[in-house]
Amino acid sequence: MEHQLQSLETEARKSLEQLSDSGQLEEFRVRFLGRKGDFSTIMRQLGTVPAEERPRVGQLANSIKAEIERLFEGKKAALAATASGSAGKATPDLSLPGRCPAGGKLHPITLVMRETCAIFENLGFSVAEGPDVELDYYNFEALNIPAHHPARDMHDTFYISDSVLLRTHTSPMQARIMEAQQPPLRVIAPGKVYRCDSDITHTPMFHQVEGFLVDKNISFADLKGVLTVFTRKMFEKELPLRFRPSFFPFTEPSAEVDIACVICGGEGCRVCKKTGWLEILGSGMIDPEVFKMVGYDPEVYSGFAFGLGIERIAMLKYGIDDIRLFYENDQRFLSQF
Ligand code: FA5
Repeated sequence: MEHQLQSLETEARKSLEQLSDSGQLEEFRVRFLGRKGDFSTIMRQLGTVPAEERPRVGQLANSIKAEIERLFEGKKAALAATASGSAGKATPDLSLPGRCPAGGKLHPITLVMRETCAIFENLGFSVAEGPDVELDYYNFEALNIPAHHPARDMHDTFYISDSVLLRTHTSPMQARIMEAQQPPLRVIAPGKVYRCDSDITHTPMFHQVEGFLVDKNISFADLKGVLTVFTRKMFEKELPLRFRPSFFPFTEPSAEVDIACVICGGEGCRVCKKTGWLEILGSGMIDPEVFKMVGYDPEVYSGFAFGLGIERIAMLKYGIDDIRLFYENDQRFLSQF
């Protein structure tokens, strides 16, 4: 029986060397290690071995079985490695240069947001942040947009309850700051805003930077001056700006500001809807009604406010013709910034 066991081990070694796929490996397992396999067949003779010899033969049988199992597991791992293509890579070549992990980058909107804030901070504006989940009061009422005012329709609002919503613009920060502080004020409020809106120039979540300045004797010329400096610094050249009369219930007079479309050079493309201009912000002189709501005397103070769309500025700055690209998380797009 000892001789049979030793031959079995030799035989198993040879068979393992020759087999080359998992099907053959399974046949090997059944033949050598299965319940009706060769090893079990030999072991059935153990009862015929003289009693004094049995412990030694049993021990030998155990160690041979363990060895066949070890060889089997080794072959199984080697076949799996070959299948996954990692065979032969066990010994790394330490002289090869290392592989660089892909580094993270700031999102283009973060870059433009930071640059925008830096420009206004250099002009003496301080930065304030407010909640994305806002009260209807600050988003609308305090900005001279009472319930049922038609201007609410322009905002495509996501409501959370009757009195709570996702802010549709950063202008609620005007009311929040003015309520808490006295003029003179020179503040920007960057952040996310939400509207039920989506096409090549609109996304349901986008970023605005609110800016407002309140003091004595502030005029529309100050607003134009600040915005002109901003666009010159942001685009590093003198781009034509267009102040287009508009309407916001919280500013009077109001203007939307367009910038010459840098994508088509003003000739007309799908982004500027063939007009040659792209709207980047809404602005105006703060309405006396808003001052009254926060307890400022409109006879003493005047001020301007504006709300910049950061995605629009990023589109113009980087020549991107579809705003939705910013939010598709395509590495090929994002890695360019
Ligand atoms: C407002 O949101 C006013 N709160 C701006 C304002 C502030 C006016 C202070 C007066 C005084 P408007 O809805 O036009 O205005 O949006 C301002 C800018 O946000 C737009 O010029 C545009 O650049 C950007 N914008 C608006 N909707 C979207 C959108 N869905 N996706 C991306 N950008 C948008």
